[in-house]
Amino acid sequence: MGKKITDKVTWVGKVDWELKNFHGQEYSTNKGSSYNSYLVRDEKTVLIDTVWLPYDDEFVNNLKKEIDLNEIDYIIANHNEVDHSGALPALMREIPNTPIYCTENGAKFIKAQFHKDWNFVTVKTGDTLDIGSSTLTFVEAPMLHWPDSMMTYMSGENILFSNDAFGQHYATESLYNDMVDNSELYAEAIKYYANILTPFSKLVTKKIDEVLGFNLPLDMICTSHGVIWKNNPAQIVEKYLEWANDYQENQITIVYDTMWNSTKKMAEAIADGIYSADPSITVKLCNVSLDDKNDVLTEIFKSKAILLGSPTINRGCSYAVAGIMEMAKGMKFMNKKAAAFGSYGWGGDVVNQLSTLLKDAGFELVNDGYKTLWVPDNDQVKSLNEYGASFVNSLK
Ligand code: FEO
Repeated sequence: MGKKITDKVTWVGKVDWELKNFHGQEYSTNKGSSYNSYLVRDEKTVLIDTVWLPYDDEFVNNLKKEIDLNEIDYIIANHNEVDHSGALPALMREIPNTPIYCTENGAKFIKAQFHKDWNFVTVKTGDTLDIGSSTLTFVEAPMLHWPDSMMTYMSGENILFSNDAFGQHYATESLYNDMVDNSELYAEAIKYYANILTPFSKLVTKKIDEVLGFNLPLDMICTSHGVIWKNNPAQIVEKYLEWANDYQENQITIVYDTMWNSTKKMAEAIADGIYSADPSITVKLCNVSLDDKNDVLTEIFKSKAILLGSPTINRGCSYAVAGIMEMAKGMKFMNKKAAAFGSYGWGGDVVNQLSTLLKDAGFELVNDGYKTLWVPDNDQVKSLNEYGASFVNSLK
């Protein structure tokens, strides 16, 4: 069912409440998601983006209830990733000659995905499409978050169709940001930024500055996932500028795994030490084997420093700790300090290995780490308290 946004714009996407993982298993979507597609009706009719492949027939059938497909003059593909381009083949079977407006990379990628030579019209920043009383202006946004990404601005309605930017994996039947629980909304928005956009933060700032420089009136940001930012749409733009600027809160996250609770005991003793040294700091403990990996990554994103702990397993660390550090490395976090800790039994090198993982992921090490043979006794717990306190002091 289409949902009317303005007299000229109708949401024709798909809300996917059942989606629990995205990008394979790379991103947990505990709150589902949506694939937002928009039908723009002026003197010309335009479809902006489609939906994920499994919903292609449903999408085309619903679209037919909204409009005679032959009345669609143009398709705009802001981004070719399959969650937005997946229904193109089904749609193009019905209207094979309809021009598809996209970036040069977009055309290349869509061809390479679907192996069809459709009627591509490639556009660059500043190119426009006159559709009657409104004009659509294209803004390339390479690496935000793919090389082909772009946004489309609609004059008159003052809408920025931003695609993935400003989105959230958040299923809702309500269309707008002021119609949902805002703590949930912001939790999903920051998770999305932390897990998808962090590596491109410098480009985020540059692109937002560029778009703000156009001084365009902005009534709504129509994203491709989650809510439409209608109530004060600038709020999410301001948040992005904040998040893109080496974001950190007054938080330390202790990221660890444990086998027989020795490393867990160490983590808790360090947390006590941090609290006693500075109760104003938020300390969070994340067991990476138990916690959602993307939530852990979000906590790291919010932290000014982390402590990484693992027991020694065979000759290395736990697979979950290694995995989260591989993800953290990809995020290219900036301006974050760190140290390692862990318990060992046979070989005691795990702390050095964790320190190397932290360094390789771009964290600044503040000490050589702390290791304990088997289970920490009371004296060691006290010493770990002191280690936590000295870690805090080294951040000053
Ligand atoms: Fe929502 Fe990059 O696809």
